[in-house]
Amino acid sequence: MKCRICSHEITPFMTFGRMPIANGFLTPKDFKDEYFFELKPAFCTECLTFQVEDQPPPEMMFHENYAFFSRTSAHMQRHFKDYAEWVMENHLRGADPLVVELGSNDGIMLENFAKRGIRHLGVEPSANVAEIARQHGVNTLVRFFGAEAGTDIAKEYGHAAALMAANVMCHIPDIHGIAKGADALLCSDGVLIFEDPYLGAMIEKTSYDQIYDEHVYIFSALSVANMFAPYGFELIDLLKQETHGGSMRYVLARKGSRPVAPSVEMILAEEKAAGLHLPETYEKFRQACESSKERLVRLLNEEKKAGRRVIGYGATSKSTTILNYCKIGPDLIEFISDTTPIKQGKFTPGMHIPVKPYEAFAENPPDTALLFAWNHKREVMDKERAFTLAGGKWICHLD
Ligand code: TMP
Ligand code: ZN
Repeated sequence: MKCRICSHEITPFMTFGRMPIANGFLTPKDFKDEYFFELKPAFCTECLTFQVEDQPPPEMMFHENYAFFSRTSAHMQRHFKDYAEWVMENHLRGADPLVVELGSNDGIMLENFAKRGIRHLGVEPSANVAEIARQHGVNTLVRFFGAEAGTDIAKEYGHAAALMAANVMCHIPDIHGIAKGADALLCSDGVLIFEDPYLGAMIEKTSYDQIYDEHVYIFSALSVANMFAPYGFELIDLLKQETHGGSMRYVLARKGSRPVAPSVEMILAEEKAAGLHLPETYEKFRQACESSKERLVRLLNEEKKAGRRVIGYGATSKSTTILNYCKIGPDLIEFISDTTPIKQGKFTPGMHIPVKPYEAFAENPPDTALLFAWNHKREVMDKERAFTLAGGKWICHLD
């Protein structure tokens, strides 16, 4: 395959096998038509970008029934409020600045700008989540962001002081289009700020479930610097985040337009020390994924043999990779409980485990809970103290 960023010839270093759409929760009548593709990650030694080879067409992942709503987590609400305030304090310059967010989902971040009367615009391709954003007072365009959208928005609303994204950039195959759009949209000292699951954290934890159809890239500072350099942008700050099991916030500006924080050099050096630029790191990662799989399957089989009930906690997008890679079905996990109404009463993609409302877990607690929402561990542990105190056991593919 050709690298999606620099067109260098690259080869996937492993396969996770046949994968369905990660957020494609479905009903039995749709089982026979379910879409599958092969999930194969690759690393480019030229531009240092971690990426997946095949990706389903975007319309299959982001549509009017998109099942992911950011608002479902209280911790994420707080995170986005802090993120928004940090941008207001550090990066909004000039009178009446415009803030644009791409992939603004249900408006969880932009509502913080809306409440302060700051000019803002969300650009969100999924109509159902965009509608919820509007109900929260967030101006939203139903559209994919790219070179053309950047140009159109600049024409209609003027140049933006900040273009932001959270957990979105890594979904977009055409980073060149985003960079062109940013170049067209941002004012001369404007900033491009985005955060996504961080490659450094994924390699450290073997959290391979970060890899699923929507995540076409897992970024590092090394790769982000290389991606945007051809468009005249440089990294001016890097901030590690705890969200999504370890993320990085990247701040870029036009080269020379803003001072560069010491964090940039520090984190680039840290990434080299961790070998994120070396192919052998990904071979080790492959081996670690296989060990993790063997261990999880063994644990679940032990629970089954002992006659213990196991329920999954959180029908996360990430769990689709775990379940399908490890081939874990309803014989090992009775059901998965999830607080998102649109997922409830459906079945998980590929392995077809029933998804039930949270009450099904709370009212008849299992012996063991498999924590798929591990990135919300603190929030879940707070909420489930009674289950834990009563002897409920937690397992996770990462332990
Ligand atoms: P995410 O990891 O992609 O943010 O998805 C989290 C999913 O987990 C979402 O479907 C909601 C679900 N969830 C619960 O069911 N209970 C919880 O306490 C939390 C935090 C999440
Ligand atoms: Zn490349």
